[in-house]
Amino acid sequence: MTNKEIKIAFKEYSSAEEMDAVDQELVAAAIEASKSSYAPYSHFNVGAAVRLEDGTIVKGSNQENAAYPSGICAERTAMFAAGAMYPDKAMVSLACVAGPDGTITDEPGTPCGACRQVMAQYQHKGGRDMSIILVGAKMIWKFDRVDDILPFIFNSLD
Ligand code: THU
Repeated sequence: MTNKEIKIAFKEYSSAEEMDAVDQELVAAAIEASKSSYAPYSHFNVGAAVRLEDGTIVKGSNQENAAYPSGICAERTAMFAAGAMYPDKAMVSLACVAGPDGTITDEPGTPCGACRQVMAQYQHKGGRDMSIILVGAKMIWKFDRVDDILPFIFNSLD
């Protein structure tokens, strides 16, 4: 038996102003997207923005439903919209932000497992790394690839 460890590298910024202009724009788009969140049950508003390889930004927010499982997360709303509208453009970055009743949590909200799996698939489809930017009010985390938030990524995608 061997004990093993994995390490995950990510960057922490104290505010969006520390990021480059391209990432700042995506953070702003995610915050803007959270305003269209429809969350009458959880009152937890989530916004996401996906940047495509040509710079196009596609926004999404969580959309809830009285039949609870029919609702969907912000990240998947944004990725599925991008996949449907621009099927030939790789998704190169995704930012998301979350908080109760229009606020932003101090520490970044982290995507659910289902959204991470969908990120993995679109990263694979695009053939290049998709960076993930998680936005909190007091700090922002940036992961250079989906693998960094989904260790042991399911790799039977071909
Ligand atoms: N939610 C997201 O939009 N993204 C996540 O990664 C986790 C959760 C939404 C789903 C639901 O509308 C609300 O947040 C509370 O779970």
